[in-house]
Amino acid sequence: MSKTRTSQAKPSGRLLYAQSGGVTAVINATAAGVIEAARAKGVPVYAAHNGILGALREELIDTGKETKAAIAALRHTPGGAFGSCRYKLKSLDANRAEYERLIDVFRAHDIRWFLYNGGNDSADTALKISQLGKAMNYDIRCIGVPKTVDNDLAVTDCCPGFGSVAKYTAVSTLEASLDVASMADTSTKVFILEVMGRHAGWIAAAAGLAGEGADAPPHIILFPERPFDEAAFLAKVKATVERVGWCTVVASEGLLNAEGQFLAEAGTRDAFGHSQLGGVAPVLAALVKEKLGYKYHWALPDYLQRSARHLASKTDAEQAYAVGKAAVDFAMAGMNAVMPVIVRTSDAPYRWKIEAAPLSKIANREKKMPASFLTRDGFGITAAARRYLGPLIQGEAPPPYGKNGLPQYATLKNSMVARKLEPFAR
Ligand code: F6P
Repeated sequence: MSKTRTSQAKPSGRLLYAQSGGVTAVINATAAGVIEAARAKGVPVYAAHNGILGALREELIDTGKETKAAIAALRHTPGGAFGSCRYKLKSLDANRAEYERLIDVFRAHDIRWFLYNGGNDSADTALKISQLGKAMNYDIRCIGVPKTVDNDLAVTDCCPGFGSVAKYTAVSTLEASLDVASMADTSTKVFILEVMGRHAGWIAAAAGLAGEGADAPPHIILFPERPFDEAAFLAKVKATVERVGWCTVVASEGLLNAEGQFLAEAGTRDAFGHSQLGGVAPVLAALVKEKLGYKYHWALPDYLQRSARHLASKTDAEQAYAVGKAAVDFAMAGMNAVMPVIVRTSDAPYRWKIEAAPLSKIANREKKMPASFLTRDGFGITAAARRYLGPLIQGEAPPPYGKNGLPQYATLKNSMVARKLEPFAR
């Protein structure tokens, strides 16, 4: 009997990877997962400069020019190594020219797989592009790759990026509370930490992991899922200060008043029409001072929280890498319009796996905190929330530090591919 030699045919064409929306401490770990998995299969990878805009402008980066070590270093480097953007493609009917341009760019560079790494708006873009193949007669497979600190993507159990911001928030809440507690007798009585999370309170909830029990910080968490009740808030601050001596409050930037308006809008909007948020902490602090007379400090970690790679969750960093690798596997298996999602198979010990989910079930949906995760008074998290959140902040994966005392983050060449087309005139 003769032995048959099986050789796997090298897939033909290139893979385009793009980062989208607000970046995270671990989005580059996903990029590393994509690039390393594609390299292992002999598939060349281009990265779009600044997300979908790079694809439209034909600004493509040849990741093949990067060393193995540089790609590996992406696993511990925050920010978006290839640039990200907030840009929403209109429907095919409303702006056909943009889709035609994308197909022209894909065709010119033999792009056969497009991997779009982002949140729910980006899943929408990925879905639209995935439909292009049929509509415009070009063989392109599109995979959405999950990412968002907000943890509000549907279907997936959690979103890469969230575990790390959750860990940063829980640790910072604990540390700042130790500080406040030390001087409360003669100085600050109320500390207010404002965290991200436009419409969902997942990050604020993670602060609850800092302590357990009525007197442990944070004493009050304010979620976008519960309208702000000024009287109840002030009563709880007062009671906590009188009982404990001080009070830590964690507020989500997306906190709404009873009329459904953001307590703190900066007044600007992004390309998706989202309000720029930020500033709920000083509003609350002023209220505490005016109504209760307590000395306060407030903090707005803003980008510090979503870029804090030095304090990343190992679980999160591993999941971020795994979804990148899985996206390549799915693409090479011929899948289209899907996203690798994280499926939790056990809370304790924490176990998870990755499955493919249709983008149509993820695009333009937002997963809020379930009511069962909020305490009855709406100011804290339940045991069920702790069971969900706890595993996501497990483990540390610090970056290597150099002699200068700073993390040694990746520096890429980001070598641009020669243009083949005329500039795109919108
Ligand atoms: O990507 C999500 C997010 O981090 C939100 O929590 C935050 O409101 C927003 O991004 C900030 O976006 P930008 O950096 O575009 O102002």
